[in-house]
Amino acid sequence: MSMIEIEHLTKTFPGANAVTALDDVSLNIESGEIFGIIGLSGAGKSTLVRCMNLLERPTSGVVRVNGAELTGLADRNLRKARQSIGMIFQGFNLLMQRTALDNVCFPLELGGMSRSEARKKARPFLELVGLEDRENAYPTQLSGGQKQRVAIARTLVTDPKVILCDEATSALDPTTTQSILALLKELNEKLGVTVVVITHEMKVVEQICDRVAIIADSHIVEQGAVADVFHHPQTAAARQLITPKGAISEKSAIHGPLYRITFDGSTSDQPIVSGMVLASGAPVNIWYADTKDIDGKAHGQMLLELPKDQVLTQKMLAFLKSQQVTYEREEAEYYD
Ligand SMILES: Nc1ncnc2c1ncn2[C@@H]1O[C@H](COP(=O)(O)OP(=O)(O)O)[C@@H](O)[C@H]1O
Ligand SMILES: [Mg+2]
Repeated sequence: MSMIEIEHLTKTFPGANAVTALDDVSLNIESGEIFGIIGLSGAGKSTLVRCMNLLERPTSGVVRVNGAELTGLADRNLRKARQSIGMIFQGFNLLMQRTALDNVCFPLELGGMSRSEARKKARPFLELVGLEDRENAYPTQLSGGQKQRVAIARTLVTDPKVILCDEATSALDPTTTQSILALLKELNEKLGVTVVVITHEMKVVEQICDRVAIIADSHIVEQGAVADVFHHPQTAAARQLITPKGAISEKSAIHGPLYRITFDGSTSDQPIVSGMVLASGAPVNIWYADTKDIDGKAHGQMLLELPKDQVLTQKMLAFLKSQQVTYEREEAEYYD
């Protein structure tokens, strides 16, 4: 079942310099999945996520969440439908004058619940995010990761079907990022809540997402299972996110063909690279490597420059083939 259906969504911000932030975007997010939306700054990610709960009204197109067509609802019914959609942000958006517990209570009180009733209902959610011993702390007394945990508890307390996360870990250090992502994954598994993760960081998508869509210049340019999109990027936009441009500093330094090698966990990476050198008697230049070693097997990618001499390159590729390693030619022009 689809939890979020977006059909031909266009959003233009009017004005003298009108900006079309989303142009004919269609997307389906299944119930219970963790879906990533990745793109560079300005690509339209925040606009897209704000259209998912109609914080931003689309110029045209349809948004359906949990069976309700939000784009067809008037304000009152929209407010109701929105209760099934939680949202967390990069900046946490906590109320500074309220304790952790009372921040979690806030949406319940807005809904008309008394403070004491709200507190009773909110406590288990603070516990769920691991903050049971900080309920009386004010936001200024909490770390970034703890603040995001409070924001997550505040979102969960109204029992949403979906949590939209707009760069929710972008202000956090890598270790805290990992722990917040792990928490989102745990909540997804425990509560069955659908999670939409908006990010500019590939590592975030890799860590928790089932599927991913790549957004560039107001369009969805690729989408699919995370491994498929990351191992076989089809567009320049995808390659740019997966192998950052900064990895190659001077185009003039590239003489031979570039190949992207994907390690899928069936081999270790070092013997492969040395094997290529031995097979051809020529050096390879590693431009970029993002591989993880799991039980002695490599997962990830490398971008290699092979010799200009075609015969030597063919020897290397033959060796890769014999080792059943996946490789793809990459156009050097992209790295201008
Ligand atoms: N309220 C707005 N008014 C005018 N332009 C906007 C507004 N919000 C976003 N934009 C423009 O829409 C484009 C996409 O922005 P945004 O969705 O914030 O991108 P991202 O989150 O991927 O960085 C940008 O060009 C941005 O300047
Ligand atoms: Mg944004």
